[in-house]
Amino acid sequence: MEISKIATGGGRKLYIETYGCQMNVGDTEIIVSIMQQEGFIYTDKIEEADIILVNTCSIRDNAEQRIWGRLKEFQRFKRAKRSLIVGIVGCMAERLKEQLLEREPIVDIVAGPDSYRDMPRLVAAASAGGKGINVALSQEETYGDIRPVRLDSNGVSAFVSIMRGCINMCAYCVVPYTRGIERSRDPETILRELREIYAAGYREVTLLGQNVNSYRWKNAEGEVVVDFPRLMEMAAAVAPDLRVRFATSHPKDLSDRLIEVMASHHNICKAIHLPAQSGSTRMLGLMNRKYTREWYLGRIAAIRAAMPDCAITTDLIAGFCSETLEDHAETLSLMREVGYESAFMFKFSLRPNTYAARHMTDDVTEQEKTRRLTEIINLQNELSIASNRRDVGKTFEVLIEGFSKRSDKQLCGRTSQNKMVVFDAAEGLGAGDYAMVTITDCSSATLFGELVK
Ligand code: 5AD
Ligand code: SF4
Repeated sequence: MEISKIATGGGRKLYIETYGCQMNVGDTEIIVSIMQQEGFIYTDKIEEADIILVNTCSIRDNAEQRIWGRLKEFQRFKRAKRSLIVGIVGCMAERLKEQLLEREPIVDIVAGPDSYRDMPRLVAAASAGGKGINVALSQEETYGDIRPVRLDSNGVSAFVSIMRGCINMCAYCVVPYTRGIERSRDPETILRELREIYAAGYREVTLLGQNVNSYRWKNAEGEVVVDFPRLMEMAAAVAPDLRVRFATSHPKDLSDRLIEVMASHHNICKAIHLPAQSGSTRMLGLMNRKYTREWYLGRIAAIRAAMPDCAITTDLIAGFCSETLEDHAETLSLMREVGYESAFMFKFSLRPNTYAARHMTDDVTEQEKTRRLTEIINLQNELSIASNRRDVGKTFEVLIEGFSKRSDKQLCGRTSQNKMVVFDAAEGLGAGDYAMVTITDCSSATLFGELVK
């Protein structure tokens, strides 16, 4: 029998820390599932761990620096328990491979995003005094058959990965190198997971992928039998009171058909995360985004025409290679023109091996990147508050997630647009219920409201 087929865990305790995106959060739940099957026991207490795994992110240099710092802190646990195994998994493991072992001797295991089925064997190799390394990328692995163990969940909303990898090759981005080629998961396994989640009481699911709207499932003949709009229809049909969301979309794949499907299903949430990255067509060309500012604005117009109440959010990068003040001004004007509800905003960080690192110059100074980013953040704060103020007086269907952080006399939940609403608790209402709430006030991050009697 192969070593991975024997229950190798023997009750040893596994602790895992997750950095980076929602995909990583989903992957951690897959790793825990695989390890539990092998007889390892999950713990959220690092002091009692026999195995510490860190699921890592490489998207920007500061994400990696944080993890190097964290590894230093693990040294005291290793001194206290000599048999402790430390593993680095995920994007940083894939990017740095053996170099991780050379640079940080406390690391015993290095596993890339496509090698999680191999984790029990890697742990066995480390337990035997060696090092466990597997950074092979796959063209097929989707972990479609694995039932993730839901950790840190509110019991109401869950994330389900529907595809892995990316082939867009944006000039700044490390993901195609760390997560490999794009591949879609069998729709049958996705729908089965959705039905199970619903039966377990969840009422909201977010379909996840680096580029979800390019999802396509092909039959044996290579014909596309389920594309993303079709998958959304199938997901929406699981139950009328199961909300469906998705992230993240690439603007180039946001089709009219998808907009039509979203508009025609009440339980598909009216929220689209559509990373623009820049408002300058010149920068978009250099970034290899495959659209222009005008084309992007055309997609926004199509969304607004079909769904006037749809929230639109974005990602923006300040200070990409050769970005001028005019380019930056175009990002600010795009933000105003769209009126984003919220945004993730970053300073450009040159990543080794990307197209930018090989062919461009990181020539905007750190100080100037910070200045531009601050301008972007300040503008977004204004836009977010303006968007929330427009909601005052309107009534929304809110899916309750539980008590508010501040008080158990108040409930909190989200609108279809993904905005958090806080309102007074009422008899018979709790997590997983829907309530109609009229908005009476807001801050920059939260809406406050009253139950409609
Ligand atoms: N530097 C800064 N931000 C980046 N992103 C991706 N790569 C980089 C980089 N090298 C941002 C993009 C992407 C989000 C997940 O992270 O905005 O949409
Ligand atoms: Fe970080 Fe990107 Fe990897 Fe997610 S896919 S963990 S954001 S590098």
